[in-house]
Amino acid sequence: MTFDKTEAKVVKAAFLPPALAKRLDETCTLADWDLLNETERKAAAEDARVLAVNGESIVTAEFIAQFPKLELIADFGVGYDGIDVAAAHARGIAVSNTPGVLTDDVADMAMGLLLATSRQIVEAQRFIERGDWAKGGFTWTKKVSGGKLGIAGMGRIGQAIARRAAGFEMEISYTDRQAIPGLPYTFVGDLATLAAEVDFLIMCVNGGEKTRALVDAEILKALGPEGILINIARGTVIDETALIAALDAGIIAGAGLDVFECEPDVPSALHGRPNVVVTPHMASATHATRKAMGDLVFENIAAHFSGQPLKNPVNP
Ligand code: DGY
Repeated sequence: MTFDKTEAKVVKAAFLPPALAKRLDETCTLADWDLLNETERKAAAEDARVLAVNGESIVTAEFIAQFPKLELIADFGVGYDGIDVAAAHARGIAVSNTPGVLTDDVADMAMGLLLATSRQIVEAQRFIERGDWAKGGFTWTKKVSGGKLGIAGMGRIGQAIARRAAGFEMEISYTDRQAIPGLPYTFVGDLATLAAEVDFLIMCVNGGEKTRALVDAEILKALGPEGILINIARGTVIDETALIAALDAGIIAGAGLDVFECEPDVPSALHGRPNVVVTPHMASATHATRKAMGDLVFENIAAHFSGQPLKNPVNP
């Protein structure tokens, strides 16, 4: 793929791995939004053909409107709920993302959170560090192997989690828009029923308005006092206030959360609880996967500037 560097005008408007930023700087005419003053931003926006953002970026219609010549929004991430894709498509601006390459890492992290929360691994470390072991053994914890696992959202990541959970001899059921042919797991028509039937509920649905606060007080009540909630999807899929109230009242047993409603803020009510494990939206953050994601972003941008079809277009 060849293209003219001077014509390949890119604005980087979010954190990208240094190796990707360097590659873009070497091959394109790159402007870094965060380093520009108002006048420079106006000039850069005027000419930009590609906007490079990440999976946590908020790209509103108003923001997009500042870029009159924009042709592509390249997302370093699989999630694009922060991007107003409809507004972009309405102006003929394509959107690309980085699916596939992060599936295994996110599934690994979901299992890690499930194990860490159920077996209270983080609290066990605190127990040792507090010097409490000399006073007696650690509390008994919840068994994972052979348990009932519910997966909400059976896309690539949900299916990768199910394959891992099968190794733990878990009984797996799931919700999705409809049953997925060929999957050896039990389809359940709605989330409340699924929550009521399982010991562990992992949220794998897409973010966005359709899934906002999908896990509310009713779902938490259905999950019940032995139930563990895991979220590696988007913070917005859980009503955090309802979750904190449910943890306070013992309505559920615990939660393992990699994503939050207002990142990077994690409500202090979720800190320091023995039955809650929190991580900073890091499920796909391994060296290998972040490199693969960067390569995909570059390939999409290069394809666009070379007049080739995008490798990973986000469809309307
Ligand atoms: C994604 O790819 O959407 C991850 O959540 C990282 O933002």
